[in-house]
Amino acid sequence: IRRCLEDRFNFMEIETPILTRSTPEGARDFILPSRVNLGEWFALPQSPQLFKQLLMVSGCDRYYQVARCFRDEDLRADRQPEFTQLDMEMSFMSQEDIIDLNEELIWQIFKEIKGVELARPFPRMTYATAMADYGCDKPDTRFDLKLVNVSELFKNSQFKVFSGAIASGGIVKILPIPGGNESISNVRIKPGGNLFKEAAEAGAKGLAYIRVLEGNEIDTIGAIKDSLSAESKQQLLTLTGAKPGDLLLFAAGDAAMVNKTLDRLRLVIGRELGLIDDDKVNLLWVTDFPMFEYNADEKRLEALHHPFTAPHPDDIADLTTARAQAYDIIFNGTEVGGGSVRIHQREVQEKVFSAIGLSPEEANDKFGFLLEAFEYGTPPHGGIAYGLDRLVMLLAGEDSIRDVIAFPKTQQARCLLTNAPANVDAKQLKELEVISTYKPKKDT
Ligand code: AMO
Repeated sequence: IRRCLEDRFNFMEIETPILTRSTPEGARDFILPSRVNLGEWFALPQSPQLFKQLLMVSGCDRYYQVARCFRDEDLRADRQPEFTQLDMEMSFMSQEDIIDLNEELIWQIFKEIKGVELARPFPRMTYATAMADYGCDKPDTRFDLKLVNVSELFKNSQFKVFSGAIASGGIVKILPIPGGNESISNVRIKPGGNLFKEAAEAGAKGLAYIRVLEGNEIDTIGAIKDSLSAESKQQLLTLTGAKPGDLLLFAAGDAAMVNKTLDRLRLVIGRELGLIDDDKVNLLWVTDFPMFEYNADEKRLEALHHPFTAPHPDDIADLTTARAQAYDIIFNGTEVGGGSVRIHQREVQEKVFSAIGLSPEEANDKFGFLLEAFEYGTPPHGGIAYGLDRLVMLLAGEDSIRDVIAFPKTQQARCLLTNAPANVDAKQLKELEVISTYKPKKDT
């Protein structure tokens, strides 16, 4: 990576601070009290995002860093609270230029590490297509099983579970499984079954199904069957391309839940039916993410990537529905990197801060240094960061990020070797003027 970036593309490696202010990447911050400035706190960087943008303002036009990042979030097999990014930023480059340069880099990595010569350009898919066809923004494209939206067909249906869901703003989608009648029994789809359980964990209240039989007859729970006219049955078969022997699994309700449910089922069933070729290497760019998503808990929009991402030039008129100039790189269904073209004009940045509910005062307090920097002739710029340990995990064919990190944290965010986190001396807390209000539960 270093040879490619420095020798071929003239990048300069620059380190950025660990003791800093909050850098919003959507997780909680790890914070540290300051002894010298009592009552004030540092945050550990969730990424070097703001520093690398400021480096562009300063005239360093190609920066990279193997950067340690810290995020206090729930852990999964591909997440650690501290992890390493390959972080990059470059000036005077469009989304196309950035993607092109990064394909060169990834091509080189795969050639040297795996001996694989990837076909270029890598495939691309818009966020809208990914959500429609796969129900997620990081589709595993090594196997088919695409989802089909059948909301139009069921919006006036007598089957109230479907028509009711659509009437209240939701959708109905199907995961068609070729040959599913033979491979998947009813026991697994009904309450108590493992597929039902997967659906329930994604928020689904039930898992309706249709089995397509010889002569295109259908077998299902009565209520759906009775609600389907001969014509709509035919439409259903045409839309899903289903043939005798195929199983159709339904999810109905709000779009996010429906997509989550069918995405989960698709992956479980794809793996189980042996549809995933482990030797395949599928890299995919997902592009055209929306700028914002609605946070129902906080009742406000929040940036889908981060609030420094530039809107698509065609969508400036209404930022709330705008697409972003953001892109993720997906490796066999795992997000290994993500980036964007950045905002480089103060007015646009202020509009985005306002869209996510930051008042001008808050925006100035948190990001005044960035807004001010935009006044000094900031070049257009953009970048990307890879989860380096995640990439190594996948290249090494491991299932857990812990297998490729020396001294990783457990799922409970502990270091088993040093037993961190641990108590500190009362004296240390006193010096920092910090008091813990935590009271251990009696039974622990
Ligand atoms: P993002 O938040 O998408 O973007 O992070 C970039 C990549 O970092 C990896 N990653 C993680 N790896 C292990 N453990 C974690 N907890 C973890 N969180 C994220 C993922 C992800 O794709 N500043 C922007 C990048 C940019 O816009 O240039 C950023 O951090 O592989």
